[in-house]
Amino acid sequence: FGNRSLAGLNVLVSAGPTYEDIDPVRFVGNRSSGRMGFAVAAAAAEAGAEVTLIAGPVSLSTPAGVARRVDVRSAAQMHAAVLTAAAQADIYIGAAAVGDYRPLEVSAQKLKKRAGAGLSLQLSENPDILASLSAQTAHPFLVGFAAETHDVASYAQGKLRNKGLDMIAANQVGGGLGFETADNALTLYWADGAVELPRAAKPELARQLIARVAERFRAARG
Ligand code: PMT
Repeated sequence: FGNRSLAGLNVLVSAGPTYEDIDPVRFVGNRSSGRMGFAVAAAAAEAGAEVTLIAGPVSLSTPAGVARRVDVRSAAQMHAAVLTAAAQADIYIGAAAVGDYRPLEVSAQKLKKRAGAGLSLQLSENPDILASLSAQTAHPFLVGFAAETHDVASYAQGKLRNKGLDMIAANQVGGGLGFETADNALTLYWADGAVELPRAAKPELARQLIARVAERFRAARG
């Protein structure tokens, strides 16, 4: 594989879901399998980068060439692991589906069912990892993902601006694309441009994404 577009650069990638515990046996999670983020980590390594992969709870083996992997479970753990590793990173690509909320209280004991009664879970907001990074004066080149079921372009461009990102990769969720699937399709947006990467297997799409990230990184940072 001849493309060494990221040689000499440190690339940090997050992948997979986060699990927010309710009690010792239950959690709030999402359907991310980690496949997209692991493919991005593999493609960055192929392109010559030194790759650190922060993985939520997934059942995937570490791609060849990835220098280090840190396994986490909750959004708070992912936040801490990404912030620590970001200090050495030139580029951060956030492909993880980070839980926006966590249960306000985690019960130390298994919650018991009370027949005939409903159950309400109170949730509190998790910190936004990308927004925390972009608020720092010196931070890596920031690439986010946006997973949307509708109004993909406007939500993605909103996240690009509001989270202070250099680029965002938007994917429509559903119809055999997005979460848990083998294929995906992405539209990349940056401040003054956009490009569509049509449906392909995640490893192929990840290579195309990495080529664009390398291009935009060089344009922004020389
Ligand atoms: O893992 P797969 O099964 O292969 O599925 C791939 C995927 C659909 C999960 C992936 O392609 C994808 O879109 N990942 C981002 C999913 C998501 O959570 O998007 P979002 O629109 O909720 O978040 C936008 C961005 O903010 C993401 O880069 C996310 O990592 C980041 N974020 C979100 C919340 C938070 N607290 N901190 C963050 O940094």
